[in-house]
Amino acid sequence: MKTMILFGSTYGYTKECAIKLANELEGEVCLVNIGKGTIPALDSYDTILIGGSIYMGQIQKKIKEYCISNEAALKNKNLGFFISCGTPDNFDDNIINAFPEPLLKSALSIENFGGELRTDKMKLSHKLITNLMKKATAKENNPQTKPLPQNIEKMVQTIQSKCH
Ligand SMILES: Cc1cc2nc3c(=O)[nH]c(=O)nc-3n(C[C@H](O)[C@H](O)[C@H](O)COP(=O)(O)O)c2cc1C
Repeated sequence: MKTMILFGSTYGYTKECAIKLANELEGEVCLVNIGKGTIPALDSYDTILIGGSIYMGQIQKKIKEYCISNEAALKNKNLGFFISCGTPDNFDDNIINAFPEPLLKSALSIENFGGELRTDKMKLSHKLITNLMKKATAKENNPQTKPLPQNIEKMVQTIQSKCH
């Protein structure tokens, strides 16, 4: 199995998840941060895992655009999609909004890796939004933002069992 993991990450949480995913998958794995450097051609990979983090309901623009422009080539690969997000309740809406529907339909694995609110690294406007989000979460008794490492394991297991 030759895998490329392509990810977007603003404050590093998704990057850490992608590294974990890369370390646990068998075979050759190429890890690519969409914010840095070039993306290798898809030809030499049979499995492509793509993910990013959600900000105001949107995944990183470059991830969304990459999936749209490479939809035809991606359709022929073993596919997995993941997102990091603060509110698991909106997972379905966020996933549908982030990736082209035909690709989601053919994906072998779609996972929510949870999230972390890294306020120490945030720019001021993001800190303010985070405070509002935390207040709304507490008021509505919604689940707190938390990492979901078990879903990284789930993706590893699913991809490995289906791609051999
Ligand atoms: C300004 C801001 C807006 C966010 N908007 C959303 C959102 O709309 N929905 C959601 O589920 N999580 C939202 N989050 C939570 C992030 O998706 C979460 O913190 C994630 O772990 C960030 O990953 P990253 O460090 O890889 O960018 C937001 C976080 C910030 C700071």
